[in-house]
Amino acid sequence: MTDPFMPELCATDPDRIAKHDGRVVLFADRDAPLAAISKAADDLTGGALARAMASAPFAKLKPGEGLSLAFPAGLAAEALQLIYMPSEPDAAMLRRAGLSIGKAQSTSAALICADRLPLDEMLRSALLRAYQYEAQKSDPKPGFGPYQVMVATPETAQAHVQEAAALARAVHMTRDLVNAPANVLTTTTFAEQIQSMEALGLKVEILDEPELEKLGMRALLAVGQGSDSPSKVAVMHWPGAEGAPLAVVGKGVMFDTGGISLKPGAGMEEMTMDMGGAAVTVGLMQALATRKAPANVVGLVGLVENMPDARAQRPGDVVKSMKGDMIEVINTDAEGRMVLADVLWYAQERFNPAAVIDLATLTGAIIIALGHEKAGVFANDDALADDFLKAAADVGEGAWRMPLDPGYHKLIKSRIADIKNTGGRPAGSITAAEFLQCFIKPETPWMHLDIAGVALTKSESAHAPKGASGWGVLALDQLVRARFEKG
Ligand code: BES
Ligand code: MN
Ligand code: ZN
Repeated sequence: MTDPFMPELCATDPDRIAKHDGRVVLFADRDAPLAAISKAADDLTGGALARAMASAPFAKLKPGEGLSLAFPAGLAAEALQLIYMPSEPDAAMLRRAGLSIGKAQSTSAALICADRLPLDEMLRSALLRAYQYEAQKSDPKPGFGPYQVMVATPETAQAHVQEAAALARAVHMTRDLVNAPANVLTTTTFAEQIQSMEALGLKVEILDEPELEKLGMRALLAVGQGSDSPSKVAVMHWPGAEGAPLAVVGKGVMFDTGGISLKPGAGMEEMTMDMGGAAVTVGLMQALATRKAPANVVGLVGLVENMPDARAQRPGDVVKSMKGDMIEVINTDAEGRMVLADVLWYAQERFNPAAVIDLATLTGAIIIALGHEKAGVFANDDALADDFLKAAADVGEGAWRMPLDPGYHKLIKSRIADIKNTGGRPAGSITAAEFLQCFIKPETPWMHLDIAGVALTKSESAHAPKGASGWGVLALDQLVRARFEKG
């Protein structure tokens, strides 16, 4: 069976264009003469390309957009996709071309006549965009056909193709996890899937309830105590280099009913995505392991389910965190920060990391602030935040810095305990970040990404059809390359 994720490379060859029976993708600049390979295709079609290029619709295209000619005479192809591409394209243009290709992808193979165009951005976007979640259909649609890529020098392109495929596969896995319903993806089945990633060379440990109890993770356990699914913490270690690791921590609330502070019914089904931070963490670890990144990274996810029940925690309860700080539970729906508090502390105590990054679908307030375009970035370290914002921009994922300030911290002081788990409506995403910061040692560079707005989108996003986006896997992989790789 061919792996649709692994594009096949071939040398530039007009004969292959003539015989390809799927879709043929060609590129043309507006005023410049056609590149040799597109010229060859133009000759085969009796000048159809040149006519399309002279048309009004072609004149309206943005760089990277294309138009489609069905069943072109002179070719065996079912369609010819002609993409407007300036001769010195930037990354954004190449990404848009990839999206045009991915969006048009069907069950048949696409022959992308890239020739000398840079491959990384375009191929990655094409692979990212060709995604569908069919796992819950009784009659699933067939999968996408493969990409065949015609390039001037296939030998030198091979490594690029493999990297693009590794990253796209990781993002698709993250989306599959986020899209999966909570009766299918439970704390147990998620942990099993993580365990199976040992096959990639990751060292995996699953901590169960008795072990979490022994460690004193009462804040995390309190969230899960109303659920029949046992709470777990999974640790994935990729020891690709020496030295202190980067620790990446993900919120894995398999379903968030709100608990006793029950959420309203309308839209509650969306809370199957409340394990989005964990899914990005797992996707990143898979990407690093498959591309054998020369970096020391450990991924930790807290897996729980937040349910109302006779055993569930109550508003007003006070629980002791692993750190020792006493938390007053004002609202059982502010559960993600309680899970992260313990996993963040454990990550620092056990690994003495060079930096800590957490990802969480943490607050509705971040959606009010930034909508679905950008994730909220909170950090106690400007260099880390700057490097991340650059990495996110490099790969085309939206991110925006938000403040931390002792002035906000006042809002989460507790009358009877050390700290309370909500600070009321004002600045809700900031007080949530302030809560997390209580569990970060002052000397640890730390960044918190609130991904509640970007993990799942109602309309198609830059990279993805509507639904789970996989936001963050690419940006964090890029950050690891830029800041945490050795040699
Ligand atoms: N998982 C939610 C946040 C969320 C909301 C994610 C919408 C995705 C979409 C989180 O656990 C939550 O319920 N947060 C509360 C906090 C409040 C009770 C202080 C919120 O944002 O309303
Ligand atoms: Mn909640
Ligand atoms: Zn939640």
